[in-house]
Amino acid sequence: MIQIEGVSHRYGDREVLSDINLSLVEDRIGVIGANGSGKSTLARLFNGLVVPSTGRVLVDGMDTARDGAGVRRKVAFVFADPDAQIVMPTVSEDVAFSLRRHGLGKDEVADRVRDILGRFGLGGHSDHPAHLLSSGQKQLLALASVLVTEPRPPGTPAFQRSEAAPGTCLGAGHRAGGPGLRRADDAVGHAQQPAGGRTP
Ligand SMILES: Nc1ncnc2c1ncn2[C@@H]1O[C@H](COP(=O)(O)OP(=O)(O)OP(=O)(O)O)[C@@H](O)[C@H]1O
Ligand SMILES: [Mg+2]
Repeated sequence: MIQIEGVSHRYGDREVLSDINLSLVEDRIGVIGANGSGKSTLARLFNGLVVPSTGRVLVDGMDTARDGAGVRRKVAFVFADPDAQIVMPTVSEDVAFSLRRHGLGKDEVADRVRDILGRFGLGGHSDHPAHLLSSGQKQLLALASVLVTEPRPPGTPAFQRSEAAPGTCLGAGHRAGGPGLRRADDAVGHAQQPAGGRTP
């Protein structure tokens, strides 16, 4: 569960979120609002990328301001711009990078990378330069790179992006990967168990 308690956030003098109180328990959540209304800021609160100016954000009881690392093992974040998330030269290396702190053997890393790339239709591109992927493929790579860490127990939902509605789609509750996946601004997946992830 994600709880937002009395949260306001300011960038300098500009207050973009004002006294927000939310308890998020639903499987899938969409946030719709005007450009600049604070959707991405709200999403970034969920994993501590943004720490509230006042109030607090709790993820399964963990305060994002106090235990950012623990929270980020539970909450994956995908940026609107996939280029912001590509850090390694090739597709497979980029996905494997997410697993670097998981203490997995080389073979298991290779298996997990192969599996997730297959699920995202990128199996034939594992040695392809990541920055030369198409725009949509980069979006898929960005999702694969966070979902490979399995920020939820196997078989349970992770998150979904959608371009059906403008604005940010935050979802905790959809098993991502595969042809049903769609794109949106930012996406956050809330995990039930620690698994780690790519922390920008
Ligand atoms: N790092 C930052 N520093 C200063 N101001 C910021 C920063 N990030 C966002 N803002 C400002 O905060 C406000 C909310 O921005 P935010 O990105 O959360 O909006 P949004 O609802 O996601 O917009 P969009 O629909 O265009 O993606 C905007 O006025 C923006 O200029
Ligand atoms: Mg935004």
